[in-house]
Amino acid sequence: MKNQIVIVLDFGGQYNQLIARRVRECGVYCEVKPYTTPLAEIKAMEPIGIIFTGGPDSVYLEDSPKVDPEIFTWGVPILGICYGCQFMSHTLGGRVTEAQDDTAREYGKTATYYDTSCKIFKGLPEQGISWMSHGDYMAAIPEGFSLVAHSDACPNVAIADESRGFYGVQYHPEVNHTENGVKMIRNFLYEVCGAKGDWTMGDYCKRAIAEIREKVGDGKVLLALSGGVDSSVAAALLAEAVGSQLTCVFVDHGLMRKNEGDEVEAAFSKWDIHFVRVDAESRFLGKLVGVSEPEQKRKIIGEEFIRVFEEEAKKIGRVDFLVQGTIYPDVIESGAGKAAVIKSHHNVGGLPDYVDFKEIIEPLRLLFKDEVRQLGRELGLPEYLVMRQPFPGPGLAIRIIGDITKEKADILRDADAIFREEIANAGLDRSINQYFAVLTNTRSVGVMGDGRTYDYTLALRGVTTTDFMTADWARIPYEVLDKVSVRIVNEVKGINRIVYDITSKPPATIEWE
Ligand code: XMP
Repeated sequence: MKNQIVIVLDFGGQYNQLIARRVRECGVYCEVKPYTTPLAEIKAMEPIGIIFTGGPDSVYLEDSPKVDPEIFTWGVPILGICYGCQFMSHTLGGRVTEAQDDTAREYGKTATYYDTSCKIFKGLPEQGISWMSHGDYMAAIPEGFSLVAHSDACPNVAIADESRGFYGVQYHPEVNHTENGVKMIRNFLYEVCGAKGDWTMGDYCKRAIAEIREKVGDGKVLLALSGGVDSSVAAALLAEAVGSQLTCVFVDHGLMRKNEGDEVEAAFSKWDIHFVRVDAESRFLGKLVGVSEPEQKRKIIGEEFIRVFEEEAKKIGRVDFLVQGTIYPDVIESGAGKAAVIKSHHNVGGLPDYVDFKEIIEPLRLLFKDEVRQLGRELGLPEYLVMRQPFPGPGLAIRIIGDITKEKADILRDADAIFREEIANAGLDRSINQYFAVLTNTRSVGVMGDGRTYDYTLALRGVTTTDFMTADWARIPYEVLDKVSVRIVNEVKGINRIVYDITSKPPATIEWE
């Protein structure tokens, strides 16, 4: 049975993915579509509601984004957010102008007063903080609409025409700063659009398995398993669907974290799949001897990875399907302009040029990261895999500054494991989004017992971030840092000094190389 669907029509705002995530959190399936999507295509999807997103433009300008006004006569409920609200108002006969003074131009947290007899504000407190970011405002609202929220500065914070199911809000209900924002979205979905809440991971999982079985038939499936969340969950889903036809190739380049290879292998032991673990440590380390330039390290590892994978694929023979762990944010973002290459990311997904296969399967392409994790749990993957923090494809190679040796990799593995253990012990493993140790190639003098040491300096890195594009350094309590430091210098031979990295991104990056 098909899920009910809501369409988030994207006018180019910053929070559009967040809107879609919020809708799904409310148990309703939704997809983000560009505002240029033909109306016929939107209609064919039979949405129960549409949400217009924010965007950077001004509706009264000639070339601002617009959709076919017929969207307003077809009878589907619409919620407009920020630009989306202004667009609705402008198109239906209201007047939107540039805010002339600071009173109508609002940015940031704003005390807002709601008319709780309006369906979308049902059950909300009459007053709350909402988060605004608009330079335009609605000077006059269209006929048939009434004002349903205001702030101290602005009378027109929200408008509604309940008879047609049209609602518009100037503020951003999707961001955390807005109190009860998700509740408002939920009201729109359930009170206005008639949502039933049929988007659950359990159902999705069952349906995805049935679809994969149908598509694959008795074909052979190949998957490159990196041990990261996406490829692990994709592997678990395929294992559940077509286990005996699935081969997972896990290339262990010897630059994994402590016990990581074993953990990944153990997680898949419950399925009857063909699991190939390629122990390629000496091969990779051999190629990396004397290499200290970060981009060169990445390039060597990326190429070697493909070569090893290709050799394994050849052994398997004919492959019908190759699995990729593409997730929904990649799908929405593709087509956006190419940013400057700061680091050449190596992802094990990008292999199709090198392996002979008929078709690609992307079983996660409709899911957000948190949904991927939920699906992983549904499939019985252990929590340490499902909640795994991002780990770069080149692994510890880019966390060992300078040239790489097995000895250095072992030192780093031990130190990193202690750091991660203590962060978890302190209960910080969910609030710090990524944390790891870096082995610098600086050595310094120390004293241990009565003797002089001349050992490596280890750097600890911990960041908080939502998108990994920008990040702040994590304020790890001194006591935790102290415990980590004492343990590492005592337990790991070769390290006699620990520093904590207190730079944000930008100007630094999260990884050191
Ligand atoms: P940077 O260091 O660029 O990292 O601030 C941003 C995020 O990307 C991860 N990262 C990688 N992930 N392949 C990956 O799959 C890579 O080559 C790679 N390099 C960095 C990094 O760990 C952080 O989460």
